Amino acid sequence: MNEKQEEKELSDLPFRNQDLDIEQRVNDLLNRLTLKEKFKLLAGRHRWETKPIDRLGIPPFLMTDGPHGVAPHSSGGKECTYFPVGICRAASWNPELSFQFGKAIAEEVRDVGSHMILGPGVNIDRTPLCGRTFEYQTEDPYLNKKLAVPVIKGVQGERIAACIKHYICNNQEKNRYTYSAEVSQRALEEIYFPAYKAAVEEADVWSVMGSYNKINGVYGCAHKRLLKDVLMDKWGFRGFVVSDWNATHLIDNPEECIKAGLSLEMPRAKHYKRRYLKEAYSQGKFTEEELDEDVRRLLRVMCLVGIFDDPKTLPRGSRNTKEHQNLARKIAEQGIVLLKNEDNVLPIEMGQVQKIAIKGTNADRELAEGGGSSAVKPPYEITPFKGIQKKGGNKIEIIDDVSEADFVFLILGLDHEEHNDVENSDRESLELPKDQLDLIDEVSKTNENIVVVLINGSPIKMESWINKVKAIIEAWYPGQEGGHVIADIIFGDINPSGKLPLTFPKQLADSPAHITDKRYPGNEKVFYDEDIFVGYRYFDKEGIKPLFPFGFGLSFTSFKYENIQLDKTEFSGDETLTVSLDLENIGEREGAEIVQLYIQEIEPKIKRPEKELRGFERVFLNPKQKNKIQFEITKDALSYYDENLKSWTVDAGKYKVLIGSSSRDIRLESNFNYKE
Ligand code: GLC
Repeated sequence: MNEKQEEKELSDLPFRNQDLDIEQRVNDLLNRLTLKEKFKLLAGRHRWETKPIDRLGIPPFLMTDGPHGVAPHSSGGKECTYFPVGICRAASWNPELSFQFGKAIAEEVRDVGSHMILGPGVNIDRTPLCGRTFEYQTEDPYLNKKLAVPVIKGVQGERIAACIKHYICNNQEKNRYTYSAEVSQRALEEIYFPAYKAAVEEADVWSVMGSYNKINGVYGCAHKRLLKDVLMDKWGFRGFVVSDWNATHLIDNPEECIKAGLSLEMPRAKHYKRRYLKEAYSQGKFTEEELDEDVRRLLRVMCLVGIFDDPKTLPRGSRNTKEHQNLARKIAEQGIVLLKNEDNVLPIEMGQVQKIAIKGTNADRELAEGGGSSAVKPPYEITPFKGIQKKGGNKIEIIDDVSEADFVFLILGLDHEEHNDVENSDRESLELPKDQLDLIDEVSKTNENIVVVLINGSPIKMESWINKVKAIIEAWYPGQEGGHVIADIIFGDINPSGKLPLTFPKQLADSPAHITDKRYPGNEKVFYDEDIFVGYRYFDKEGIKPLFPFGFGLSFTSFKYENIQLDKTEFSGDETLTVSLDLENIGEREGAEIVQLYIQEIEPKIKRPEKELRGFERVFLNPKQKNKIQFEITKDALSYYDENLKSWTVDAGKYKVLIGSSSRDIRLESNFNYKE
């Protein structure tokens, strides 16, 4: 048979038939594979792909980093859009924007010829020192899931696989390859599971990345209970589990991974070398049925992304488009947080100043290509200096002598060097680097009009200098359009609306993970002894005042909250309680407010957080505009995980609904009862 005939024959095989049901295609393909070919599919090659099976025309399945832009190291060095990092997108509290982001990054993945994005990263911000805080989203499980789900839906709507990571409890970089997170089932259920559970149940995520670390003594990639029993059997995950890169190296043998449900060992075979698999199989250490279950999952996602389909029938890709660049700008506009604005120095009227000075380590630094696996190589990156310079044009003179300036902009923060915001190392302090502290000191001696812009991806301690500056803008790593957005905020073309997705503590010792060394950094074991009291849950419980609380962010306008109404004062079973309130923009400028809804159980039977986020809505209002905002509360919003019952439950009793502009700025509240 000549090549043409061979191709014709292959193309007629059922697994290539796009009109067939996915499961029929998967079964047909699986049944055609030899044992050796199944082994071959279980391990990667060339760092970013699976091995082809030429006999059946199975091409490599390609995957690429990273969570805020297609990485050059996994796309043949290609330039791609550098979106704002995860924590910046999270600070927008905007699920629709997360969906748009997912769609856009998937278009770029498609354009570089890949099939899966290794993101979103959703590990909970348990310690502010974690080197990858910038890549992740939040300290709160509800916000985490509400933002992860739309990213995944946006990605997979383009028939690109999302790969939610790192499952699970990879909440620090220190000793990441070896530590065991010693964590209670309740903390797993209430804090660490929710984003992954929702990713499966609400977004049908097609891939999950197993973490480097152990959880209660078992490595993430060999964790049968968390992978097979929970992720697959309990939640219904139908995609495939891929190891983090080299995450299987300290696992004892292949059969543990096979039985746990690890479908793909990356970047190359360690345990899944064919001779090891053949030996373990021949010794009966795993069955062909167990092997088939793992292979089937990978084949299923290959079919879902259309790897066997006519490329003309697949969504088109696009990269570095104006549309993606505008989206990057929009995410920064909504994710940048105004932390301080004394005497309303901001926004600055263009005609109000003639001379400004712009100083600081991060003033004109391009930071996209750092951070580790989340690096991006953008076609350009507008630094804060360039953004302010362009905005000021010939109307504002940028001078060197700070004592002569009407305003001094100090562009400070961190970077992606070791012990900053970077993978595989954690920060060692919450302080800004000493040279930056000295700069603030120095400048404040000759000019009181200091505006600090922070370029960073994790909380900064400010006690020693916050009173020396008039305004503070938390700009995170705001993507390639960031400099324009910072300038737009400074000069008032954008009204900042971001809210902190994690607590900024006054000092590290106030953070729950830093009460004892065994909690952090730990050693072989990291004891999650704070249990469910992560982030604001802990600060509330201990009555500690944070520097800036979860959910905090200022605006150039003000909002009035009034007239909270409950459609009933008691509900039971599967009924819904409707909470409404009026929100009015009482300032002179349009702006967006993120209304937050927290639930508090009054006199709970067991230890519970004082309040937990159970709803939020981003509301844009013109000056003097008033909108009615409505939330639907079900018993899920009241529930907690009972370790004795080994299930979620709700107690009858008294509850309070708290409506806030931040977790520490509750504007309205009302009581209600829940009865069985
Ligand atoms: C890295 C990271 C993971 C990344 C992978 C591939 O070590 O932990 O997030 O996707 O390896 O670069």
